[in-house]
Amino acid sequence: MTRTIVFLPGDGIGPEITAIAKRLAQTISDHFDLSLRITEHAFGGASIDQFGEPLTDETLQACLSANAVFLGAVGGPKWDQATARPEAGLLALRKALGVYANLRPVAVHPALAHRSPLRPERVANIDILVVRELTGGVYFGARKRTETSASDTCTYSVSEIERVAHIAFQQARRRRAKLTSVDKANVLETSRLWREVVTRMGKTIYPDITLDHMYIDAAAMHLLRDPASFDVVLTENMFGDILSDEASMLPGSIGLLGSASLGDQAPGLFEPIHGSAPDIAGQDRANPFGAIEAMAQLFESGLDEPRAAMSIRSAVNTMHEAGAWTEDLGGPLSCTQAGDRFLQCLKTSLPAHQAA
Ligand code: IPM
Ligand code: MG
Repeated sequence: MTRTIVFLPGDGIGPEITAIAKRLAQTISDHFDLSLRITEHAFGGASIDQFGEPLTDETLQACLSANAVFLGAVGGPKWDQATARPEAGLLALRKALGVYANLRPVAVHPALAHRSPLRPERVANIDILVVRELTGGVYFGARKRTETSASDTCTYSVSEIERVAHIAFQQARRRRAKLTSVDKANVLETSRLWREVVTRMGKTIYPDITLDHMYIDAAAMHLLRDPASFDVVLTENMFGDILSDEASMLPGSIGLLGSASLGDQAPGLFEPIHGSAPDIAGQDRANPFGAIEAMAQLFESGLDEPRAAMSIRSAVNTMHEAGAWTEDLGGPLSCTQAGDRFLQCLKTSLPAHQAA
């Protein structure tokens, strides 16, 4: 059975890291006889330049009929004043794919503990999974602008909270059985509903999970004070955007992390969590590890190929142990060199092929 991965390189460093992700997909496909079909489509600012809109119908249809979608990055100063913004394409794509749960794992490799802005003993046991609600909240509420004022509305329904909370509770079950739900229930009505729904689900459906609640401001603080105490963190769209960027610094570079956005059915959307980094775009200086981790997630939860994900992560480990890093991690490698070296490691770490 042929399965299709749609690649959306997007803007800035997106194309550089996506090139490596595509080579990775081809290597895995060849090795495990997966007969993956790899296609590429315009998206974001690149699509605005070519077609006048960030998400064309053609790209959207290709994504909707794919088995998994990989996205590089979108946005950049070039389109900041444009009426059509690249980011709007990303929000429309997330909504159209129905990927309401965004999983952002943060762990620290021992070889990189010295790169963390926190002291090494604080980061030793960090293993956090941020589950961010991705298709609701203030990102999607009505907006209004007059000469003298502006408003954005935040709305959550019980079912929107329940479906993402189920994912978070179930992830906690597979991990250390601890869930921290983050809100601003001392101020916001949506947060009060959020807290009520999550509390009820904890009591009635997931009594085996240790559930606690934290206000977003306190969570931002505790994430730096004692990051190792967190297991799964569940939160709404905007808090999750902010908290996951904060958490991404713990392992030393935002360039290391990938994310999986999942809905009730395929395709999922897989992205590194870093942005388009226009300041280093086109200079072959980007860190491809975030894209590589996003590909591991794509194989694991997007295509149900855990063997491929394991091989990818084992090759990443080999790279870390050898100090084979890009400049953001204090290493000597360019983006292409890191990609080449990674693919070599991957080829040696792939298990002997067993035909199905
Ligand atoms: C992210 C990004 C996006 C978001 C932007 C590019 C719209 O920051 O994936 O975290 O805010 O969701
Ligand atoms: Mg963000």
